[in-house]
Amino acid sequence: MIDLAQAACEILRVAEPADKVTRALALAADWKQQHAAFVRPADPPARPARPERPPLLPPRAMPKRSAGGGQQKRIALLHALAHIELNAIDLAWDIIARFGTADTPRGFFDDWIKVGEEEAIHFSLLQARLVELGAHYGDLPAHDGLWLAAEETSHDLLARLAVVPLVLEARGLDVTPATIADFRRAGDEQSASILDRVYRDEIGHVAAGMRWFQHFAERAGLNPKQAWQDRVRRHFKGTLKPPFNDEARKDAGFDPEFYRPLSA
Ligand SMILES: [Fe+2]
Ligand SMILES: [Fe+2]
Repeated sequence: MIDLAQAACEILRVAEPADKVTRALALAADWKQQHAAFVRPADPPARPARPERPPLLPPRAMPKRSAGGGQQKRIALLHALAHIELNAIDLAWDIIARFGTADTPRGFFDDWIKVGEEEAIHFSLLQARLVELGAHYGDLPAHDGLWLAAEETSHDLLARLAVVPLVLEARGLDVTPATIADFRRAGDEQSASILDRVYRDEIGHVAAGMRWFQHFAERAGLNPKQAWQDRVRRHFKGTLKPPFNDEARKDAGFDPEFYRPLSA
């Protein structure tokens, strides 16, 4: 039997994206075929391994994306999205490795393993699209800030769920429709349809965040809305930026009463 939390740690410790993707897909398949099970808690690394390329820069040192349309701009955007998805693979498996216990409901693992599988697919689709456009993940610098939210919330599952799926991935739902429209307007239907798929899957990731935030808040005797607002205020630097995609958020079970009071 494969030890789920240990195998999740192995995904975090692998630096090469292709290797990370292969392991994520394999572990998800093993879980579905009941070849993997939670055996014992793991000790995940503070930061996941990263490949030599792309160079990681502090967010403020990132070059401004070139203005105007054109292929270079689309490549830069796809590269930035691929980098986000690579981090998302690690974030999903980190939740399992860091917070999984013998008491964790099976449904929690089902959900985050599915997220970890879908993030691996998203990265692969974007990387394949970059290759079609003559580029490659690693060609451009990427920013180093994405793991900060994980480090900030590594002590508390409620904080992690409050910030990662329910602030950051929910923000993705707000901005992705406009990005898809931009690609369509540029005549890049292939990239648009990849982002369409990502968008639909991400509604499910926010839904999983909401479901398990509510579950663990209620189990701790907390009011989910107040507990969420409290965790966001403490662990997310910055305000929540409208406009919100209320419709997609609603599809994910995310009530405006949670996030409206914290909006800029
Ligand atoms: Fe994703
Ligand atoms: Fe996601």
